[in-house]
Amino acid sequence: MPSYQFPDDFQWGAATAAYQIEGAASEDGRKPSVWDSFSAIAGRTLNGDSGAIACDHYHRYESDVKLMVELGIRHYRFSIAWPRIVPDGRGSVNEAGVDFYKRLVDCLIRHGITPHATLFHWDSPQALEDQYGSWRNRQIAHDFAEYVSAIVSRLGDRVQHWMTINEIPCFTHLGYSANQTPPHAPGTRVGSSKEVWQTSHHALLAHGLACQAIRAASPGPCSVSLVDNIAVTVPITESEADIAAAQQAFPHCWLNGGIVFPALTGAYHAGFLEQLGSAAPEIQTGDLEIIHQPLDRLGLNIYTGTYVRAIDQAPGYECLDLPQGYPRLHMPWLNFVPECLYWGIRHISETVGRPDLPIWITENGCAAQDVLDAKGEVIDTDRILYLRQHLRAAQRAVAEGYPLKGYFVWSLMDNFEWAWGYDRRFGIVYTDYRTQQRIPKASFGWYAECIRQNRVV
Ligand code: FCB
Repeated sequence: MPSYQFPDDFQWGAATAAYQIEGAASEDGRKPSVWDSFSAIAGRTLNGDSGAIACDHYHRYESDVKLMVELGIRHYRFSIAWPRIVPDGRGSVNEAGVDFYKRLVDCLIRHGITPHATLFHWDSPQALEDQYGSWRNRQIAHDFAEYVSAIVSRLGDRVQHWMTINEIPCFTHLGYSANQTPPHAPGTRVGSSKEVWQTSHHALLAHGLACQAIRAASPGPCSVSLVDNIAVTVPITESEADIAAAQQAFPHCWLNGGIVFPALTGAYHAGFLEQLGSAAPEIQTGDLEIIHQPLDRLGLNIYTGTYVRAIDQAPGYECLDLPQGYPRLHMPWLNFVPECLYWGIRHISETVGRPDLPIWITENGCAAQDVLDAKGEVIDTDRILYLRQHLRAAQRAVAEGYPLKGYFVWSLMDNFEWAWGYDRRFGIVYTDYRTQQRIPKASFGWYAECIRQNRVV
């Protein structure tokens, strides 16, 4: 049997998000999202870039779907822009916005590609920011659920796979408290960590209410998931002691104890809550039940990891800094730690205690300094190196019996990388933003061959 083989029913896909590729920002009744407003302020995004045009996917979706066919994927993860569907955030539904997603989904289905729709990938309606401060206000969870009912009841005849929210930490914690250049996300800087934790608590509530709304509005059977970007602790060696240290560290690493734990177990991790102390959010009676909805799957966006080792003193583990010159892809945070995929999956089963939950890698990929060469090609062997090693780690998880069912590469094509604008390219297809030409990179051919052979090549 060839090595690094995946099971026959393993599902291969690619992912994108609305604001990063669609463009057509004010077409067919769409109103601004917080990302439109944020990008319009000088100095907020690199080179003043915005998603106003992006990859113009709104008009070019048919040829983009043809690229997917060429790639051989059977699954496509995209997101639906709330401000296209309910332009004022709450209230009336814009049918012209819904129609775009009907056209896209019909086109996917015609080509044998299963749609997986993310209901929120950071582009919340500006109107709700103006009205009540978006995620600072509990009301947003209810307005989100209303929007979710509206779109699921209209699209549920052709979409069965729903993902509620993408990466809660990013649009809450990195939006409301981060002090970084370029800033990560829109969001008024708030005064205290407690207020920041309140925004992610509201997002968790929105996720829970959305799960209920999807199941109530779906005309047929459907699958519901959350997409989280857990911080992955990786044991520096696989000795029993280092593995135990990585497991102990996991709930305390970044925000895990306050995001993935409540979503999957119904409680903020006790030790983590203690660590938060007065920064912990206010949790009303009944909130945790709402947050802890049954899920059909978990989506994990994993790009990197943190090495951990066992130590003799309390707390028994140590998270390790990386040495100068450690290999990194083209983002400050994108350290090359391919075992992160294996350990991320294993932690959900063992450390969070949810071995029952099917897992999909909903994003994995890297930015590289891609250039079109004289032959008009992009030979991104660095991206191939990255993907090959990560897929080997994913295959190991499957081989050891962890419930990994599918993989979406991030991303189908270069796109608007948030505050980094068009400067950072994550695609396996090169986007020439001047002409909107799509040029498959070497990694596109490599990934196509993996899919064709159903193994890591
Ligand atoms: C993730 C986001 C995605 C993209 C990748 C590089 O955090 O979900 O939109 O920006 O990072």
